[in-house]
Amino acid sequence: MSESPAFFIRDLPIHGSLILAPLSGYNDQPFRRLCLEFGAALVYTGLLSASAILYGSRRSDEMLRFHPDEHPLACQLFGSDEAILEKAARTVEALDIDVLDFNMGCAQPKIVKGGYGAALLKDPAQIGRIVTRLVNTVHVPVTGKIRLGWDAESRNYLEVAHILEDSGAAMIAVHGRTADQKYTGRADWDAIAEVKQAVDIPVLASGDVKRAADITRIQAHTGCDGVMIGRAAIGNPWLFQRRDLPDVPWAERAPVILEHLRRMVDFHGEAQGHRRFRKHLRRYLTNTDINRHQRRAFLQCEDFGTFVTLLENLAGI
Ligand SMILES: Cc1cc2nc3c(=O)[nH]c(=O)nc-3n(C[C@H](O)[C@H](O)[C@H](O)COP(=O)(O)O)c2cc1C
Repeated sequence: MSESPAFFIRDLPIHGSLILAPLSGYNDQPFRRLCLEFGAALVYTGLLSASAILYGSRRSDEMLRFHPDEHPLACQLFGSDEAILEKAARTVEALDIDVLDFNMGCAQPKIVKGGYGAALLKDPAQIGRIVTRLVNTVHVPVTGKIRLGWDAESRNYLEVAHILEDSGAAMIAVHGRTADQKYTGRADWDAIAEVKQAVDIPVLASGDVKRAADITRIQAHTGCDGVMIGRAAIGNPWLFQRRDLPDVPWAERAPVILEHLRRMVDFHGEAQGHRRFRKHLRRYLTNTDINRHQRRAFLQCEDFGTFVTLLENLAGI
């Protein structure tokens, strides 16, 4: 790669500033590879339970099946027990990942009830202990993804950012909402800019990048080293080329849809591949002239051959 890197995660060069955000339920191997091919400079797994990795659950085994082309790759763990996290970190490091990321942002009830994810924002000292342990365990850079705090009364993002940096974290990704907000309200880009000002390690901005123009806006607003693209990447990998879906003609979309499905069927098997592809497909089909009946036929399709025929029938739209 000839161009000079946009930034480094410790000693890992990152060639570009657009990053696929961790999206549990979407970021499987086929989607991550597709986003890399479209220009994502780094891709994340969705969050993986450190304890599930240790007891070798089927779900985490599948989530840990990486492709040799999937680089640079950040593998995200969640947990709160330092010893368990240490063991899980060793396991995933052996799988040729580039970055080990620690989740402090997930606000799902089942995660925070266990004291994991965003619940850790209530205990910054524990964050420091965990990240120090991870940094001392693995050779790859350790990074963290945070929200702004637990709720409006406890927005401790600057304290947490300093603790992460002091514990040896090599980068911080900031989703500009509190845990309490879940996905409501607007992401606070001013707060992300404050984090960028406060630390010397790279900072990624996350939240409400919906279209190509938002990428430029959030970069200018926060001064961040990179921009995470989350929900808006679903059904629109072209966003990594700073293109909005309405500007991508059907003739260009159709082969990408087919290739994405083909890889999902290869990876997950025919039935699961089709089932899991539907949530991507719904997005791919937006801003098209496809009618209700055609859409339904697509979304109910369960075999690859029929899907190809459906796509061919739409060649003219
Ligand atoms: C379906 C879904 C799954 C997500 N899974 C994760 C996850 O596993 N780990 C994580 O740190 N953040 C996760 N997030 C948060 C995103 O990475 C991102 O910070 C957030 O969606 C805001 O960015 P966006 O507006 O670009 O989507 C998830 C978000 C969504 C919508």
